[in-house]
Amino acid sequence: MIIYTGKDYYDVSRKAANIMSAQIIMKPNAVLGLATGSTPVGMYKQLIEWYKKGDLDFSQITSVNLDEYKGLSGDNDQSYRYFMNTNLFDHVNIDKARTYVPNGLEEDSEKACADYNEIIRSVGGIDMQLLGIGGNGHIGFNEPGAAFEKETHCVDLTESTIKANARFFETMDDVPKQAYTMGIKNIMTAKKILLVATGETKADALYKSLYGPITPNVPASILQLHPDVTIVADEGALKLI
Ligand code: GLP
Repeated sequence: MIIYTGKDYYDVSRKAANIMSAQIIMKPNAVLGLATGSTPVGMYKQLIEWYKKGDLDFSQITSVNLDEYKGLSGDNDQSYRYFMNTNLFDHVNIDKARTYVPNGLEEDSEKACADYNEIIRSVGGIDMQLLGIGGNGHIGFNEPGAAFEKETHCVDLTESTIKANARFFETMDDVPKQAYTMGIKNIMTAKKILLVATGETKADALYKSLYGPITPNVPASILQLHPDVTIVADEGALKLI
C-alpha cells in the first residue's frame, strides 16, 4: 500500500488525476472503475483539463461505476449517471456506449445486479478502481455490516442517508430508498485500487480502514488484503496516521 499526502483538496485531486492518467497512458483501452461523491470532482476536473490540452485520450476507455440509486433515470439530476455525464463524460472523448452505471430504472433488483456483474465480467474486469470513503468506512454503498463476498446487490439506504438526500427532492416520496452497488468482491477483484480522501471527517474511517482489524463493520478495512492499493489524502484525512 502506498500513501501519498496532498497539501489540500486541489493538490490531492491533481495527484489522484496523475495516477489515473498514468493508467490511461499505459493502457489506452483500460477499464476504469469510477466513483461519485464530492471527493472525485476535483480529480475529474483535472482530467478534463489535461484532455483539453491534448495530453489524454479517452477514446478507447471503458468505465464501470460503483453504484446508482434504484428508481432514478439517468436524466434525473440526482442520479449518478447524470453526475458522471456532467462531471466527466460530457467533457472528454469517451464513447458513452462504453460507460456503464447500474440501471436504476430496472425494477427487478436481481436482474439489475446480475446484468451489472455480467457487464463487469464481459469488459474483462477493472484495471483501476477509484474509491471515495464514507465517514463510517463505507465504499460504494457497502455500508458497515455488508458481507465481503457480495457482488453487485441492492441495498436499503440508511435512514441518515435518506434524510441527508431529502433536500435534493420535492417530496419525501421522491427520495430513493434503495440503491444498486458493486459489492466488496467486485471492488477487490480490480487489479489496482485508488482511494481518495480529504478532510478530518474521514480521519477516523481512514485510520480504522488502514490499521484497524479487517471487519465488515469497517467495509474499507478489506483493502488491507488487496495487493495494489494507492491512497491519496490530505493532512486532515491522515491526521490519525
Ligand atoms: C456516497 C457514495 C460513495 C462515496 C461516499 C463519500 O455514499 N456512494 O461512493 O465515496 O458517498 O462521499 P463524499 O466523497 O462526498 O464524501
